[in-house]
Amino acid sequence: MFNLENFDIKLDTEYLGREFIYFEEVDSTNNELMKYPELLPNGAVLLAESQTNGKGRTGKTWISNPEQNLTFSILLNEDLDKFSLPLLNLTTALSVGQAIENLFQLDINLKWPNDVLVKNNKIAGILVESKSKSNLIEKVIIGIGINVNQPIFKGNFEIHPTSVLKELKREVSRERLLSEFLNIFEENIETLVYNPKEILQNWKNKCKMLDGKIKIINGEIVKVGKFIDVDNEGFLVLRKNDNSLETIAFGDVSIREQD
Ligand code: BTN
Repeated sequence: MFNLENFDIKLDTEYLGREFIYFEEVDSTNNELMKYPELLPNGAVLLAESQTNGKGRTGKTWISNPEQNLTFSILLNEDLDKFSLPLLNLTTALSVGQAIENLFQLDINLKWPNDVLVKNNKIAGILVESKSKSNLIEKVIIGIGINVNQPIFKGNFEIHPTSVLKELKREVSRERLLSEFLNIFEENIETLVYNPKEILQNWKNKCKMLDGKIKIINGEIVKVGKFIDVDNEGFLVLRKNDNSLETIAFGDVSIREQD
């Protein structure tokens, strides 16, 4: 069971995680936080030991063993005009990666837009959802799944999962990882507001796919080319085979085998 005391003692934030809601089981922490009946403060975190309908990006499901991993969502409902959502996605993935690197010295690779990989296997995924009223974003829910102490992953996966335990061959503290992530994330959100280029550069430094040949799949549409940059909005810039440039906002990216 998640130990609140061990988490709290290392939490060094002003607002992230200061309101903490714990559930044994929910359908999805994103759904639960989105419909939460009480007015919650900016930075509230809702964590569940297990999800019956954990959601992944592009309609996929997120599967995670109960009590072994981190499945949680963060509410942001203030200063939302100060940054863009695509850049918030990148900032979240960067912060998860930095927390894992700091605590466990694992070499992290970020995959656009927001997957966190270790040796090409997925260690964390992020699903950002928002609610708007008359074209203004009222709240943003950042859902994060980090594979921490799960030893085996069964099923068919597009990118094979890994966990901190699988990489280190030992169990680690979920509480310590969550507090480390929130500490880093709060600082990175501040940097995102005042110096978004720094966040973008830090993200690019951790993306091994940059400059490589890629394939982008968005529903039925498949695009191929060279991944040449991420622009200031957080969109992927693709150089297509006819040398023209295209900016991509959504899609699942994979490495393209040599022609
Ligand atoms: C992905 O890589 O496809 C995104 C996965 C996001 C999973 C997390 S787990 C906590 C939160 N609640 C959900 O239902 N999904 C996110």
